[in-house]
Amino acid sequence: RKVTVIRAPFSGGQGKGGVEDGPDKMEEFGLLRDIAELGWTATVDDPLAKFDLATLKADPSDVYGNCKRPKMVSDCCRLIFDAATAAHENKTLPVTVGGDHSIGMATILAFANAHPDGGILWIDAHADINTPSTTPSGNLHGCPVAFAMGLEEDSWPPHFDWIKQVKHKVRPDRIAYIGLRDVDPGEKKLLKELGIAAYSMYHVDKYGINKVVEMALQRVNPSGNKPVHVSYDVDAIDPLYVAATGTPVRGGLSLREGLFLVEEIAATGNLAGLDIVEVNPALASTETHIVDTVNAGLSIARCALGETIL
Ligand code: ARG
Ligand code: MN
Ligand code: MN
Ligand code: MN
Repeated sequence: RKVTVIRAPFSGGQGKGGVEDGPDKMEEFGLLRDIAELGWTATVDDPLAKFDLATLKADPSDVYGNCKRPKMVSDCCRLIFDAATAAHENKTLPVTVGGDHSIGMATILAFANAHPDGGILWIDAHADINTPSTTPSGNLHGCPVAFAMGLEEDSWPPHFDWIKQVKHKVRPDRIAYIGLRDVDPGEKKLLKELGIAAYSMYHVDKYGINKVVEMALQRVNPSGNKPVHVSYDVDAIDPLYVAATGTPVRGGLSLREGLFLVEEIAATGNLAGLDIVEVNPALASTETHIVDTVNAGLSIARCALGETIL
């Protein structure tokens, strides 16, 4: 039982500062201690350590059409992709700690390439499947799923050409969403056209979280014995519990629903990759917001790695 913690103190996929402090805060609150206490051996990888991320983020020339910082996002994602690929090759479970969600393009692509028959759950208020031609904001943290699937490659900034060489992309029938409540018009269209399994908050209310997790797993892992990657944007959980995040949307998962979900996946024994992203300690108006948000991130990690209440 080995984990590779991949540090991704990255904020170039969106405009706000502070989300780059996510990994430090998670570690300060005890991430590595918690992982060890659950019986996992952890190695820490810091693939972006060699970059001066603040300078890269401030470079005004890093734009392509309406896409903001394509070079920074691509360069960093490429290193995270390599780190996650190495983790899979070494038969360890990569736990990537962000950072904004653009890094999800690297982790789910590495997962799909290493485990072509595996399934992905994207837990989020947002679908993050905008393409460079549909993105309303130009922020690449709204686009990682489209890059990992190879959607509309003709619209991509050339910096992302390396993705075109990756053998196994994310397949539309191997990814499911849970927690959606803020989906852009272009995203809705793509989800429909591609027939992607998407469980919004409406479905959580209608069926309950237990049934939703069951249906989502049935879609991405019908045999029940394939590896599963969970890309967890903490804004899936309601801002009541997770206030310190860049794009909060009201009406989200309760803290217990958000944790139950990963408890259920842990219970299958199939977890083979985890991202915890969009913890932004700078966006808190009180110290309690920081403590609540970081602790929610830690609880997600612990529940996913097998912690049970009893
Ligand atoms: N859909 C919006 C956009 O494309 C918001 C995306 C928010 N993504 C996130 N990872 N928090 O800009
Ligand atoms: Mn693996
Ligand atoms: Mn989100
Ligand atoms: Mn997201």
